[in-house]
Amino acid sequence: MDKIIINGGKKLKGEVKISGSKNSALPILFASLLTDEPVTITNVPSLADINTTIAFLNFIGKPAVKKGATLKALASGKYKHIAPYDLVRKMRASVLIMGPLLGRLNKVDVSLPGGCAIGARPIDIHLEAFKKLGTEIEVEEGYVKTSCKNGLQGADIKFRFPSVGATENLMLAAVLAKGTTKIINAAREPEIEDLAEFLNKMGAKVSGAGSKTITIEGVDKLYGCSHKVIPDRIEAATYLIAAAITKGEILIKDADPKHLKIVIEKLQKAGLLIKTTESTIYAKWVKDLKPHDISTEVYPGFPTDIQAQWMALMCLLKGKACVKENVFENRFLHVAELQRLGADLTVDGRMVDIKGVEKLSGAPVMVSDLRAGAALVLAGLAAKGKTTVSRIYHLDRGYELLEKKLKKLGADIKRVR
Ligand code: EPZ
Repeated sequence: MDKIIINGGKKLKGEVKISGSKNSALPILFASLLTDEPVTITNVPSLADINTTIAFLNFIGKPAVKKGATLKALASGKYKHIAPYDLVRKMRASVLIMGPLLGRLNKVDVSLPGGCAIGARPIDIHLEAFKKLGTEIEVEEGYVKTSCKNGLQGADIKFRFPSVGATENLMLAAVLAKGTTKIINAAREPEIEDLAEFLNKMGAKVSGAGSKTITIEGVDKLYGCSHKVIPDRIEAATYLIAAAITKGEILIKDADPKHLKIVIEKLQKAGLLIKTTESTIYAKWVKDLKPHDISTEVYPGFPTDIQAQWMALMCLLKGKACVKENVFENRFLHVAELQRLGADLTVDGRMVDIKGVEKLSGAPVMVSDLRAGAALVLAGLAAKGKTTVSRIYHLDRGYELLEKKLKKLGADIKRVR
């Protein structure tokens, strides 16, 4: 299994280009199932999760081919209605196959996604919503079997929690439903807006994306289109923190600072110099940073996907900070690994108290999930000595060319087989 070896202590300096957003590209790829016509999607990152989704589309019957950052989902005919375990188990987002296939075939059987490192991650909100659109649901032999004999019927649906995936899945189902669907307490992430823009280019009628209430007027048919995926705000935030933790200076290009307001504000309050334009974020370490508490919230609050990276930074700042994780019930698997590097962390339920230490010392560490892995790489960049990061297949799911981009910024980092 591949490993990443880092000799820490180098200040990162230079420019980095942000790739297309994984969490926007995934629902958009599944949305291509909603038409038999070809669609062209650009700025698609080269990631394991994208490859998994391409395999999924090909399996279901929507041939997809990716060349560089351009993905073409080709004209298609009859789809399969079964999503097998060996594909679903690789990626929780596979559950997004449900919306399009319910809309197109009025049935879909999906293997239960199974838990993952950051908690059980049920799909009850998705299923409740599909039921309200007229879907019958049975769970048997590890599959969720769904069907709606008379087709999907639009309805008003109030979410108990603004789930990103459930909002996307419901949008993907409602665009071809009869009548109008209203999603109340919808997720407001930029990726939801990007999906709505893609669907509307296909001929859908989605309004209110980015707000708490999304209205979808069902249409009979959707058509091919072209679309460029938004930049990956989580990748951009990770490089911002890389500049802070290594006391470096980085110009982040092809980013959208509007998607990172709260992270930029927090880092500026801590003392990092940050200047932004429409598509760039310049960050420079100019003085010792001050620790700041964070409490993760749904968008536009502090992103849970930056919690681990923020914690890594707080480990090395003089003073104390507290991290509260409100979105996932078990997203502190990086704590034990950061402690192996010498961090002073105390877990108390959904909170972690951090006491800054003078230095971290390199050691072998293991990645448990994508963003925990990013935190360990960031800590390794700042630690004295050698850090060996294993199970980096988690990182390959969400960070395009990570070690190449960091090496270009001056990190002493390499991937070994
Ligand atoms: C999306 O996951 C992202 N993944 C996650 O990014 C991100 O952390 C998360 O949104 C929150 O922002 C993709 O977009 C592919 P949720 P998703 O449904 O849709 C509970 C990364 O690192 N919940 O908003 O799975 C759930 O258990 C990944 O890129 C239910 O209880 O997130 C969790 O505690 C990690 N029932 C919370 O809601 C449901 O039916 C947030 O889940 C659905 C969710």
